[in-house]
Amino acid sequence: MRFTETLTAIVVGLAASAEAVKVNPLPAPQSVTWGESGPKNVGWLELRTDARGSKNQRLVRDAFDRAYSTARKLQWVPQAIEEPILKYPEIPTGTGNEKREASSWLSGVDLKIADWDAELKHGVDESYDIKIEASSNSIKINAETVWGALHAFTTLQQLIISDGKQGLIIEQPVEIKDEPNFPYRGLMLDSGRNFITVAKIKEQIDGLALSKLNILHWHITDSQSWPIHLDKYPQVTKDAYSPREVYSNRDVADIIAYAHARGVRVIPEIDMPGHSASGWQQIDESIVTCVDSWWSNDDWPKHTAVQPNPGQLDVINEKTYDVVTDVYRELSGRFTDDFFHVGGDELQPNCFNFSLPIRQWFAEDPSRTYHDLNQHWVDTAMPIFTDEKNTGGRKDRRIIMWEDVVLSHDSSAHNVPKDIIMQAWNNGSDHVNKLTGMGYDVIVSSADFLYLDCGHGGYVTNDARYNVQENPDWEHPNFNYGGTGGSWCAPYNTWQRIYMYDFTRGLTDEQKEKVLGVAVTLFGEQVDDTVVSSKVWPRAAAAGELAWSGNRDPETGKKRATYMTQRILNFREYLLAVGVEAAPLVPKYCLQHPHACDLYYDQDAVE
Ligand SMILES: *[C@@H]1O[C@H](CO)[C@@H](O)[C@H](O)[C@H]1NC(C)=O
Ligand SMILES: *[C@@H]1O[C@H](CO)[C@@H](O)[C@H](O)[C@H]1NC(C)=O
Repeated sequence: MRFTETLTAIVVGLAASAEAVKVNPLPAPQSVTWGESGPKNVGWLELRTDARGSKNQRLVRDAFDRAYSTARKLQWVPQAIEEPILKYPEIPTGTGNEKREASSWLSGVDLKIADWDAELKHGVDESYDIKIEASSNSIKINAETVWGALHAFTTLQQLIISDGKQGLIIEQPVEIKDEPNFPYRGLMLDSGRNFITVAKIKEQIDGLALSKLNILHWHITDSQSWPIHLDKYPQVTKDAYSPREVYSNRDVADIIAYAHARGVRVIPEIDMPGHSASGWQQIDESIVTCVDSWWSNDDWPKHTAVQPNPGQLDVINEKTYDVVTDVYRELSGRFTDDFFHVGGDELQPNCFNFSLPIRQWFAEDPSRTYHDLNQHWVDTAMPIFTDEKNTGGRKDRRIIMWEDVVLSHDSSAHNVPKDIIMQAWNNGSDHVNKLTGMGYDVIVSSADFLYLDCGHGGYVTNDARYNVQENPDWEHPNFNYGGTGGSWCAPYNTWQRIYMYDFTRGLTDEQKEKVLGVAVTLFGEQVDDTVVSSKVWPRAAAAGELAWSGNRDPETGKKRATYMTQRILNFREYLLAVGVEAAPLVPKYCLQHPHACDLYYDQDAVE
């Protein structure tokens, strides 16, 4: 077994009876260097900054207070640590009354930020360093921007642990230098299939901030429901599930402010022109097509949707574009991020056949194809999405679409502007390779690795395929596009599956530059408040580290999944302690007995 100090936490037996731990925060910082002189007590930490009247002074102070008061309240005892000597980690046993030298008390944090006013947007510098020296009673933090400083605080709060009684300690001296490998580190939540309350969304944001994920991609609407209020078209929420399952303007502002205070950007998605029925149909029935068709999964040549209920925008009807402009403009005023997601996935040609204008458009020129039809959408809609009149004045608005707009076999458009960001979801790193090769910036959400909803079986009802009592191998019936056990992207993506994903495999350096990062996605057919946190956490944190500092030991280049194990098991307990209802990953026995539950004795089995 090989234990890298910078990657593992080791219990250090001290002369004093309190024991300290070289805590291993999640995500693993790029570099941690420990010394040996032993822990310091954490006294009342005063935050001293060089803010000089920045508008972000309050935000930084609040973030520090949250981190520090959480550390005080939790009195955290690491729950799972890498430990090469003992059979399992000793919980610190000090009385808290040991005498320490005066210099062994930490009493302040000296924070220096180079650019206090940098906006939270794509590519903002998130680097920071933390230094605790034996000779000093203050913790020194340097960051380029406030957003890096916030990451420093979430690292610091994980370093502060209980001394076994009422006190807090930090193992030191320590120097941490840290920054993300990728600027885009996200979670997609879906409130179109099922509603998620504001409180539960905030709980997800707490988890995001703690694991240094910086994007909440909010798939707000879908064909099933329209839960967000619009001033211009208040009738849209007739298609919310109930008047209580609606996000008011105030709710949206509340979520965005909560996220912003924690360094998390909120990127809205209004899925167009596919996955569109609810809401739109309340504005004008003529702008949607096929909403009243049978979705025909049982008669595939006629299918109008890949899941119930069908509906797409009528992309030939000019009225459609007036409504799209109004909706986009209003939401751009509320979601002010530099990115906006406009969907673009899973267009079903058959659905378009239900529109008279589209049938006429095809009849006018028999050479026209569904590719041309999608091109018409892209050519007409993109100028709306980039016009400053509609972006709330933002000059740097960038549009995200799902990869289908360029990769769909039956309906991709021919010429899609290269400044549109593509979100890859099919065929793993092959599509990342393809899209970056075409010159697009890419967000990686490969379903076979990063979809959090996979593996829960099929949900469509009246499904006779489940009525099978035996088959030759006693296997579950395999249906729904090849996913084993009934869901298209089954099986379930475990944290190890997520963490070990080499999403830039086979890319040239130039292509790698075009990968903005990763987003785990949780589509909501079988998700609401009751299960959202347990489906997201702690698996999203595995993606957090994957995108922050990667899945490899920086020294050896080997995959560090085995070293990640204790880190993520501990982090799951930490999430629970701060109120994020993360699921257990293992029997608690495995948490208390490091490596006892490994499949392979050889700690280098994963490479
Ligand atoms: C939809 O229209 C196209 C083009 O006319 C045709 O090829 C296709 O069969 C139609 N689909 C259905 C389900 O009728
Ligand atoms: C994924 O790859 C397979 C095998 O090359 C191919 O048949 C399939 O069409 C691809 N899927 C998509 C959505 O492009």
